[in-house]
Amino acid sequence: MAKKKDIEKQIDRLRDEIRQHDYLYYVLNQSEINDRQYDKLFAELKELEEANPQLVTLDSPTQRVSDQPLEGFDNVRHTVPMLSMDNTYNADELRAFDERVAKQLDTRNYDYVVELKIDGLAISLRYEEGILVTAATRGNGEVGDDVTSNVRTIKAVPLALLGGSKIPAVLEVRGEVYMPTSSFVELNRLRAEAGEPAFANPRNAAAGSLKLLDARVTAARNLSFFAYATGKFSEPLALDHYRSLQRFKEFSLPVNPYIVQARNIDKAVDICDSWNEKRTSLDYQIDGMVIKVNRFNQRDMLGATGRAPRWCISYKFAAEQAETTVESIDVQVGKSGILTPVANLTPVPLAGTTVKRASLHNFDELKRLGVGVGDTVVIEKAGEIIPQVVEVKAKAAISVPEFQVPKICPVCSSAAAKDEDGVYIRCLNPNCSGQLKERLKYFAGRGQMDIENLGTALIEQLVEVGLVENFADLYKLQKSELIGLERMAEKSADNVIEAIEKSKTQPLWRFIAALGIRHIGGQSAQILAEHFGSLEALMSAEQEELAAIDQIGPIMAKSIHEYFKDEKNLEVITQMLTAGVSPQQPQAQRLGKLAGKTFVVTGTLENFSRQQAQQAIRRAGAKSSGSVSKKTDFVLAGKNPGSKLDKARKLGVEVINEEQFVKMIED
Ligand code: IVH
Repeated sequence: MAKKKDIEKQIDRLRDEIRQHDYLYYVLNQSEINDRQYDKLFAELKELEEANPQLVTLDSPTQRVSDQPLEGFDNVRHTVPMLSMDNTYNADELRAFDERVAKQLDTRNYDYVVELKIDGLAISLRYEEGILVTAATRGNGEVGDDVTSNVRTIKAVPLALLGGSKIPAVLEVRGEVYMPTSSFVELNRLRAEAGEPAFANPRNAAAGSLKLLDARVTAARNLSFFAYATGKFSEPLALDHYRSLQRFKEFSLPVNPYIVQARNIDKAVDICDSWNEKRTSLDYQIDGMVIKVNRFNQRDMLGATGRAPRWCISYKFAAEQAETTVESIDVQVGKSGILTPVANLTPVPLAGTTVKRASLHNFDELKRLGVGVGDTVVIEKAGEIIPQVVEVKAKAAISVPEFQVPKICPVCSSAAAKDEDGVYIRCLNPNCSGQLKERLKYFAGRGQMDIENLGTALIEQLVEVGLVENFADLYKLQKSELIGLERMAEKSADNVIEAIEKSKTQPLWRFIAALGIRHIGGQSAQILAEHFGSLEALMSAEQEELAAIDQIGPIMAKSIHEYFKDEKNLEVITQMLTAGVSPQQPQAQRLGKLAGKTFVVTGTLENFSRQQAQQAIRRAGAKSSGSVSKKTDFVLAGKNPGSKLDKARKLGVEVINEEQFVKMIED
């Protein structure tokens, strides 16, 4: 067996190596190793730490996600207030700012640093002896929310600074947490799939993600970070801002690569203008530029008003907008029956694409805007991505009756009604052909059963001619039935049948996702598949058990439970299974020695956190549940076990201690 000291050394080495790769990847956008090699290092470290839990430290790369949701956020008082910034909207205003600076400094001998104004939310990170101890939002500038556990999940934020003895004992770093545009688009896609409302722009998505009480959800949101200022520090990093940003980089803090020095205001204005055009090439949103006096002694001379410093100013870009006419308003039916108003527009170019349609989100929004057919409207790309109507510029010349909130579904004419607890109007007919088409498109879609050759046009025909009324009907389709359809020659019919056949053995998670259970997208489906290992186990799970799974919230648990309670759903699933659909769970994950066993962990363990114990259980192929029932095989009880232990005794479930548990998973 390796000596304790050796293990410690090995752990330290792995941590340093991982930190170095994180720094290269998240800060410098480079990498020296591929994902697999990285995962291997990470797994190695995790394994060593799990075997030696006393060596786990807060700044280890494995500790980015805490296992317990917060009850609420604590307050943090900022040692140096987080001020706002004055805004300008054109070059003249920027020059006026420069005049004020020159006058107050009584010299023209100063320079600027010009930065992108990242459209996210400001955050203050406190490092003590190089270790991240607190992360707080700006709040009202004096007091913010303690979002440390969430910020710890952001890979671009170093948990420990690099640089050893050169790091000040106390260093507060300020910067912007943001969501990359591509992640924002993907997140909204997933939310739409799961029937959740979309975020309006990446800033809201970033703010929403940082204010989640469960850091595990934040971790999945792919937030990032740029550092751009210091708060309190025990020793100054440099005499000017530009050089202090270079020090940030040495400490492995991410600094935006486009920050430049400008000799005078003319240069600064040129840089700002050039970014107004280039900004769509970035994978994050900027809403303007920031111009900062570089030297700290000059900043001190300029001081601040109560609200904002006098040494910096922002130059805000106008959101890209266009004007066009609403030609008609359609109502679309989604897979869960949500009716969405969509404006058909006279095509107009906007930020690189031609926009023909714009979502009006929901009928409350349509009413708020007062949009009607024939109106001239201003459209904007939300975060330059999704076109939306922002205001009515002029009403139609001839008066058109106000758009009425539909009382019936535009496809099946059944009753539609507003959700009890939301803004959506839904078609209430479970057999609506509009919903069915959307559900089938989703089922066959790339992120789900991935049935190539079963595209939108074909699905619509299949529903219209009555060949397909549910998912199971897809698996009963005969070649001869397809050949009668439009644009369906013998060869294409073969391809369709073959693709459907192939989908029968898709992995379990794809099948779960394809069912389109409300609130369950691909990611949750993967968690469920891994946890239950078979469709049967998932179908018979109690709501409590579902809710006890990491990352499955109570609303999801309820939705899953209700889905599998519904006779009609069960009938369709049974028919699919009879037709030969057999969702596969990869073998490797299920071959553990404790396969099929269910554990409940209770009380405080000495060598494992709750999450580590659950991981160990899952790795051994067993299930970890949150509540004790007759189906529980073992209750692992630590110190102060509470009512779960009583319940186990009452039900005669075997209770084991930590030592026995370790034996079981090692054997
Ligand atoms: S410096 C005294 N630099 O803009 C203000 N702020 O409108 C010092 N922001 O709250 C902040 N990019 O959230 C600074 N490169 C940048 C920035 C930036 C975005 C945000 C920040 C601030 C807001 C003010």
